[in-house]
Amino acid sequence: MSKKLLIAGNWKLNGEKKDISFIKNLLKFHSKKLTKKVDILICPPFTLIDKFCQLTQRSNIEIGGQDCSENETGAYTGEVSANMLNDLNATYCIVGHSERRLYHNENNNLLNKKILNIQKNNIKAILCIGESLSDRKQSKTLRVLGNQLKGALKNNINPNLLEIAYEPIWAIGTGLVPEYSDIEEVHDYISKKLEDFYGKRSKKIRILYGGSVNAKNVFSILSLNNVNGALIGGASLKIKDMKSILKQFI
Ligand code: 13P
Repeated sequence: MSKKLLIAGNWKLNGEKKDISFIKNLLKFHSKKLTKKVDILICPPFTLIDKFCQLTQRSNIEIGGQDCSENETGAYTGEVSANMLNDLNATYCIVGHSERRLYHNENNNLLNKKILNIQKNNIKAILCIGESLSDRKQSKTLRVLGNQLKGALKNNINPNLLEIAYEPIWAIGTGLVPEYSDIEEVHDYISKKLEDFYGKRSKKIRILYGGSVNAKNVFSILSLNNVNGALIGGASLKIKDMKSILKQFI
């Protein structure tokens, strides 16, 4: 069964007003032929979401958040809610990126609350999971990923508003990529777990790979079994790199 690919850029702590030119350029570049095969998503910092959503309103380019609060509203200084993302017409939100887990102590319980809130606002959640290098060396990868899935996907998560991103922590920003057979093993495992949780309804969930994806390796990685897209950091920041990635799928 082949699913439509999702190619997503996670801009992390990058992006200023001048980068509006990126979206304008992407709008000129994208075509019906491309978006028939690939869903394109850009997740800029919160400060750019409104402008990016306005610019892409009548296109097939989707805009998403990189995180959001587990709360709806109230006295939570510095937070942005899923409702606010929806208000701007953002359609996706990343949740549980390893940088959030590491620098903001986010755990599976919290991520579960965030996903419930994201979905309540009709936004698709992209749940990131991934093992550390020490987990991999101790052959704990699948167990760690299984626990992350089980913990974050409890309490009636809606599989129709869910994507998963497998991002080995040691592959993020390092130029290192797992052996392709290892990526396939993990994606196969995630796919089976999702089937255990949701039965046939799991078929709609895309499983993205993330970690040092670039124009040179993207086609091979996205040709692997059960890899339905990519979550791209560094290589999604420059329009030239993004175009070289996307044009391989036309
Ligand atoms: P890089 O593509 O820079 O390795 O980052 C991956 C990532 O963390 C995407 O969420």
